[in-house]
Parts: sequence; C-alpha cells; structure tokens
Amino acid sequence: MPRVRPRRLRESPAMRRLVSETRLHPAELVLPIFVREGVSAPVPIASMPGVVQHSLESLPEAVADAAAAGVGGVMLFGVPEQRDARGSGATDPDGILNVATRVAVEASAGRLLVQTDLCLDEFTDHGHCGVLDDRGHVDNDSTLVRYSAMALEQARSGSELLGLSGMMDGQVAAVREALDDQDFTDVAILAYSAKYASAFYGPFRDAVESTLEGDRRSYQLDPGNRREGLREAMIDIEEGADIVMVKPAGSYLDVLADVAAASEVPVWAYQVSGEYAMIEAAAAHGWIDRKRAVIESVRGIRRAGADVVLTYWATELAGWIRNGDLA
Ligand code: PBG
Repeated sequence: MPRVRPRRLRESPAMRRLVSETRLHPAELVLPIFVREGVSAPVPIASMPGVVQHSLESLPEAVADAAAAGVGGVMLFGVPEQRDARGSGATDPDGILNVATRVAVEASAGRLLVQTDLCLDEFTDHGHCGVLDDRGHVDNDSTLVRYSAMALEQARSGSELLGLSGMMDGQVAAVREALDDQDFTDVAILAYSAKYASAFYGPFRDAVESTLEGDRRSYQLDPGNRREGLREAMIDIEEGADIVMVKPAGSYLDVLADVAAASEVPVWAYQVSGEYAMIEAAAAHGWIDRKRAVIESVRGIRRAGADVVLTYWATELAGWIRNGDLA
C-alpha cells in the first residue's frame, strides 16, 4: 500500500481550490487593442476570429468593457492609412496611435492603465521596426532617434507605459533619457526584452496590415537561444526598464522562468496572435475545449513566472475569473 498519497490533495474541488499554486486575477491581464485610421466601424481580422481593428468610435467601448471586467490595462497598436520610410505617423501628434491614446485615456478614466506599442513597423512603408540605411539594413542608432521622438509624442498623448518592442540596442536608455529630459519622469518603460523572431506573429501582421518583406532576424532573437533572452532582459533592467517582457509566451516558458528568477523588476509575457489563433482555430473545429484551453494556456504562462499576461482573451477571461467560472 502506498504510504505517500499526493492524490489526497486532489480529492475534492474545495481541496483543489485551497492548494492551487497559480491563481488568475483580472488585474494581471492586459488587453492588446488595434485601432485603425479612417474606418467608421470595427473591421474583423480574419486570422484572429473575435478580434477586430477598432475605429476611434468603437475604441471607448472596448476600453470600458475591459475596465468593467477588471482588466489591468490595454496596450494600443495603431494602423495608419499612410506609411513612409521613416514612419512619420508615429511622431505626428495627429497620428492614429497618438489620437487613439488620448481617446483611450479618456475612456479609461483611471480605471485601467493605458499603454502604447513603441515601434516603427506599423508606420513604415517597408514594414521594418526601424529606419533603413543606404544598404537597406535596419539602422540601429538612427532608429533610436525616431524612438525617442515617438516616446515623447506618446507621453504627451497620455500613455503611462511605453512598450518598446523594436529590439534595437540601447532603446531603453535612449527613450529613458528623452523622457527625463522633457520632465516625463513618471512615464514608465515596458521593455520587450526577450522578443524572439517568431512565426507566431503571423496573424498580428494581418491585424496591422504589415507590409514587411523578408524577416526581422537581424534584430529579434533566434528562437533557439535561451541564455541570450536572459541577457537581453538584464541589459534592459540595467538601462532603466521598469518592467521586462518575454515574447511570445507559450513556446518560451523556459526563458520566462529564467528571467523571472533573475529579475528585480516585474516580468510580463505576451501571448501573441499566433498563440491565440491556434487555439481559436482548433476550437472552431471542435478539436479542443476552447475555454479550458484558454485558461490552461494563460495559467501556464503565469505558472512559469509571468506577473502579468498580455492576451487577446483578457476581457473574456477576466469575466470568467470574476464569475468564479474557471472549471
Ligand atoms: C512590433 C510588434 C509585433 C507584435 C507586437 N509588437 C510584431 C512583430 O514584431 O513582428 C506581435 C504581437 C502578436 O503577434 O500578437 N510592433
């Protein structure tokens, strides 16, 4: 007869609830939101069923719904009508992302944190995250100048947390200095530190109508590299990042656990568009229990060490959590 019986702790729902190691809370979820210029109604994204490109008119309700569900924040992405080589729309006070930020800040009324993606890829006609040099190579240091200007415009628009997702060297230090010089010392930096060159961003590129040809392997991390992910996070903390992130989440749980073990600042993870699309597609075929898969996927990311998870299911999942409906 076994003397040690771990199953005792799994016997009843009440016991399982009491010994659960990983709880989910709406405040630990952030909803990414796409806002498209020049549309009057939301536009569905085919590869992300249930997710839309919002219009400026439909954005306030999405923010209000997230706030009502207790979601901790929203992360805004802009989809501009015009793009050019230097991504001018990103630094235009009337550019879609900056306008959307002002709208979201008003709709939130302090109930959740309004955050913005700080990267040029949505605004450049070539689709890269930075500006190009004569040879068509992404130029790190001239991109930092653009990021600094973009940061100031986002701060002026009321973003409280800037999500630096471009993977340029020195971007955290450059943006911190630009913000501090203009007295935006209270605006925080979320560094997408360990951001991998991933196939799982595919549906996102539909969502922002990316024009990218080629790939981002000269700046995003090689998917096989674990130590380098931790190194990037440590560099960003050193440069002044307030929060660091690992992205994508599901295929990089080891990197997430490493960063969580070493970091003195909060560690977030981004459950990206492809992770969303895979579960939605399998569920639509009846091959997987959608709700259970959503909960398990986010719980796994939390278990690996993420303090907060960015997920396209944030509002829906927060609703389930609030209703105690996590079965
Ligand atoms: C870059 C950015 C990307 C994502 C978030 N910020 C795309 C990329 O690096 O190609 C992907 C998010 C997702 O797939 O859900 N601005």
